[in-house]
Amino acid sequence: MNVQPKDQAAELRTLMATRRATAPAPNAPSRDATTRIRRQAQPPPRGEDDHRSADRQLAGRRFADQQLANQSAHRNRLADQPRQSRRQGTARVIAIASGKGGVGKTNIAVNLAICLARRGRRVVLVDADLGTANIDVVMNVRSPFDLSHVLRRQRGIDEITVPIEEGLRLVVGASGLASVADLRPFERQALIGELGRLESEADVILLDCGAGISQNVLAFTQSADELLVVTTPEPTALTDAYALIKVLSRAPWTPPMRLIVNQSRSVREGRLVAERISSVAARFLGLSLESAGVVLSDRHVVTAVHQRVPFSVKHPGCPASTCIAALARRLDLTLDGTAARPGFFGRVFRFFY
Ligand SMILES: Nc1ncnc2c1ncn2[C@@H]1O[C@H](COP(=O)(O)OP(=O)(O)OP(=O)(O)O)[C@@H](O)[C@H]1O
Ligand SMILES: [Mg+2]
Repeated sequence: MNVQPKDQAAELRTLMATRRATAPAPNAPSRDATTRIRRQAQPPPRGEDDHRSADRQLAGRRFADQQLANQSAHRNRLADQPRQSRRQGTARVIAIASGKGGVGKTNIAVNLAICLARRGRRVVLVDADLGTANIDVVMNVRSPFDLSHVLRRQRGIDEITVPIEEGLRLVVGASGLASVADLRPFERQALIGELGRLESEADVILLDCGAGISQNVLAFTQSADELLVVTTPEPTALTDAYALIKVLSRAPWTPPMRLIVNQSRSVREGRLVAERISSVAARFLGLSLESAGVVLSDRHVVTAVHQRVPFSVKHPGCPASTCIAALARRLDLTLDGTAARPGFFGRVFRFFY
């Protein structure tokens, strides 16, 4: 990358000029919080209103029961059906990425997937955070197989796909394997090609990518039709988001990118943050970067993560759920009338050759 340090400094200065608008949100959870959740499923905090609510507990249990029933029905269907070759290139592929870790990608991906499915879309949610996948933890899903089995050619992609609810299926990611976190180019190509087999069965494929600018993330983002870059108003998240956008803008091919500002203290703050990044990207990268939406900082997200039920299921009326529902509504409108696209295979070859 031919970036002059002087240019770099000017970009960062311009981004940071918004300091007032981007002060850390009170109670904004740290990266440590995510790590803790990954290590162990913690019991819900005692004394919380939510924890006492029998209705909400019931919603969580119903969600889990429904998943179990779906999983066994799906396994039966798989046993009955031979694998079929698939038509290519019908689903819209949306990658969700961020510069900094712990900004809320996974929670946004999971809840967006649920909202889109409940709007009648056929959604496949892919845990593409290779090596540190955790959607299964957030959704409380157990699966004997994950993407590592696909990479080892022990299972086909359709055999590891877990039905979650009507219209929503999950491709469980692999966690704790260095070999998966650090794929070789032909393995990445094979994986993306395998995911392409799901395209004809879905309206939208959501890829929850890892944080930062790894080769895996670049491959997934470049194979997508659209990229949603998640940031928070925190200055470090903002500069890291900008760094990701900058690297992608210089790649041989990049899908249209839009911003989601998560954990905002207000819609106004989120819009200001998005406007600031957009104007710096326009000025220094010549890039038009729209805002996809703002998601408010909401303690219900934290309690839902602890209880391992997606927040839009556990607390459908909470501020974060309302923001995600609005985001899903806007995305939904863009799903129809998409022109024929090359499909995963086409995109992956464009990237590697
Ligand atoms: N809107 C929100 N309001 C409050 N807390 C939030 C919100 N979104 C996310 N969080 C908190 O941030 C934590 C991290 O979220 P999440 O795991 O979705 O981030 P991530 O970007 O996927 O992380 P990683 O980069 O590690 O994959 C959550 O466990 C939750 O506590
Ligand atoms: Mg994540």
